[in-house]
Amino acid sequence: MSRPNTSIHGQWSSRWAFILAATGSAVGLGNIWKFPYITGENGGGAFVLVYLLCIACIGLPLMMAEIMIGRRGRQNPVNTLKSIIKEENKHAAWRYIAWIGLIAGFIILSYYSVIAGQAIAYMFRSFAGIFEGVTAQGAQSIYTTLTNDPERLLAWHTVFIVCTMTVVARGVQGGLEKLVKFIMPALVAILLILVGFAANTGDYFNQGFNFLFTPDFSKITGQGVLSAMGHAFFTLSLGMGAIMVYGSYLPKSTSILKVSIAISIADTAIALLAGMAIFPLVFANGLEVGAGPGLIFETLPIAFGHMAGGALFGGMFFLLLVFAAWSSAISLIEPAIAWLVENKQISRRRASVTAGFAVWLLGLLTVFSYNIGQGWILFGKTMFELLDYLTANIMLPLGGFFIAIFAGWVMSNNSTQEEFAIKSPIVYHGWLLLIRYVAPAAVIIIFLNAIGILA
Ligand code: PHE
Repeated sequence: MSRPNTSIHGQWSSRWAFILAATGSAVGLGNIWKFPYITGENGGGAFVLVYLLCIACIGLPLMMAEIMIGRRGRQNPVNTLKSIIKEENKHAAWRYIAWIGLIAGFIILSYYSVIAGQAIAYMFRSFAGIFEGVTAQGAQSIYTTLTNDPERLLAWHTVFIVCTMTVVARGVQGGLEKLVKFIMPALVAILLILVGFAANTGDYFNQGFNFLFTPDFSKITGQGVLSAMGHAFFTLSLGMGAIMVYGSYLPKSTSILKVSIAISIADTAIALLAGMAIFPLVFANGLEVGAGPGLIFETLPIAFGHMAGGALFGGMFFLLLVFAAWSSAISLIEPAIAWLVENKQISRRRASVTAGFAVWLLGLLTVFSYNIGQGWILFGKTMFELLDYLTANIMLPLGGFFIAIFAGWVMSNNSTQEEFAIKSPIVYHGWLLLIRYVAPAAVIIIFLNAIGILA
């Protein structure tokens, strides 16, 4: 299998289009829904510090590696790896790395969609003024009323999957590019307003800020460190081929180093802003930091319920969150779609319908884990928790580990250097050091530490 010069699925219209699409993939529920609640569950500052270290030392070099591999192969992750393996004369088994990713994306989308569905429900509740003057208890009960009802969760999950697959069916440039251009700035603007609201809680703002940024290492466990690393992968969309497949649509002239830095910074900034908006409210209202996946749904309505124009701002906020989730969801399933189209010779539309239906079906496990299936426990976790743990904490780091080995050891320096076209030898060798040694070693040490072998 030889390497084509362009992808059969088309190309991004410009460097900016790629940055926007990849940022659209990275910024999603991971930043605004997941980051605050897992930070809360893992005691705050120390967790955030480990997460930031993982972004810098593992996430950034791996993002560069994924884009580089994708652009070199210009096909779906499985075929991309195959063609590079052939070029480098290496063992064919390396292509299985791509399979971990295809499957992980599929599973993540199944629960991602259910959470995005909750955000859609919240958008309507907010526009309708339901949060006006709401108390902490009131906000909690609005959330449990929603999640206790399997029919509603199912309906919104269905809506979200249909929206996602409709865009996927239309292809790379179809509309996604235009959407993200508008979403990201608007989302940041509303987040800043929310941080401003939180800043008015006075002392509680400092308490929230300290919770996020003052590390207390006694509060973090081996499992917590694993979650921080897993989240670094999750939030940057790494370890599963999403960024790789986006890279395969990237024009040749773009600097991979620059776009990777831009995406990582934007993603991290949005997560930290979300944390700064949410934790002061948690403390000001005597809520539980470790409340879990419902955290944003139980805190933000309090802010919206007590600010002028809150119904409108709140509705806008959840609308933007849905859009952000949408642009991530597309990238979760794109590797599988590109594979179906290239290798099974079916149309994009048929591929989208088939994959969409399968994901929707798997999503029922998450829908029911909030209500009728609350008692379906495996390894001490509900079905939703299990799928989340399996993908974010195991499959993504494992996929990322192998991609790092592939980029650092399987590919020759000549190839990687040629594809990156980085002028400074120091920067290139810095990348090589991180991708060959630091990133793989960190993943292994954190895994061993989490299962208690090192602690
Ligand atoms: N990065 C997305 C988020 O933070 C989730 C995602 C993970 C998207 C993996 C694609 C691949 O919400």
